[in-house]
Amino acid sequence: MIVLSNSEAWPGIDETATMLDDGANGLDAIIHGIEKVEAEPRIRSVGYGGWPNLLGEMEFDGAVMDGDSRLTGAVGAVKDHFHVTRIARKVMEQLNHEILVGEGATRFAYEMGFRCDNPLLDDSKAVWWKKLQEITGEASPDLSSCDLAPLNTMITDPEKVRDTTVFLTKDSNDSIYSATSTSGWAWKYPGRLGDSPIAGAGFYADSRYGAAACTHTGEMTIRANTSYSIVMAMRLGYSLQQAVDLAIAELVSLKGGFLGGVVIHAIDNKDNHRVVNVGCEGDIKYWLYKSGMEKPQECIAEKY
Ligand code: GLY
Repeated sequence: MIVLSNSEAWPGIDETATMLDDGANGLDAIIHGIEKVEAEPRIRSVGYGGWPNLLGEMEFDGAVMDGDSRLTGAVGAVKDHFHVTRIARKVMEQLNHEILVGEGATRFAYEMGFRCDNPLLDDSKAVWWKKLQEITGEASPDLSSCDLAPLNTMITDPEKVRDTTVFLTKDSNDSIYSATSTSGWAWKYPGRLGDSPIAGAGFYADSRYGAAACTHTGEMTIRANTSYSIVMAMRLGYSLQQAVDLAIAELVSLKGGFLGGVVIHAIDNKDNHRVVNVGCEGDIKYWLYKSGMEKPQECIAEKY
């Protein structure tokens, strides 16, 4: 058994580890952990504590993948609900589709009995409003009729992170799962999806080989199909070490577009793991728990 998650996982990782130790299904355990992260206002890139889009609206993305069946469920640009990983699981279990976005995803969430989470934190709203005033030079900026594209390239994330939360696990039945949740980039263009709801880019799981998930610049991992490429390389016989190296080589070969940092998290089916910081400033941490460990450990990612 193993569970690997990124630094934002601290509100949920202990309970996820305890559930896995007690023999819980891996997807139940990681969704339980992610819900704790989504509800924690101090986490500024996921759920309730996240930053809004350019219009001051929250838009959440999330996904799950079952590595036994290779079914996925994902939702994107969901406005009223921040527990998106749980909604994504409902997509996987209740629909003949893999991804729902926008109004359809929101409608589905209500249909499945989710109530509105009132997702915009007062602090996030105040920071967004101040930022708009700064860049427009107006006391009461009105974005209803102006072009948003120029603003999109001017405004940057207040914490310079494009983070998310990702959990990967192999449970006591040797089933491998992945799950993601994020509010995406701060001040994103409305409707922007990152990699977190895109199978193959932000996450992948295959119980035969392993799983991978990425944080930070989704625009890059979508182009390089990073998570799938790691699992595919292991299927072709490469080790976890080599598979992640191949994915990094693809990321760093990208040209043009928005280029930033990416953090790759990966496990194989033998409880090995690898986390690599490809171009993010400073030390990037992650959480690891395996059978036999006393409690989850916070570790520092390799730097590429
Ligand atoms: N990796 C998170 C995002 O790009 O939204």
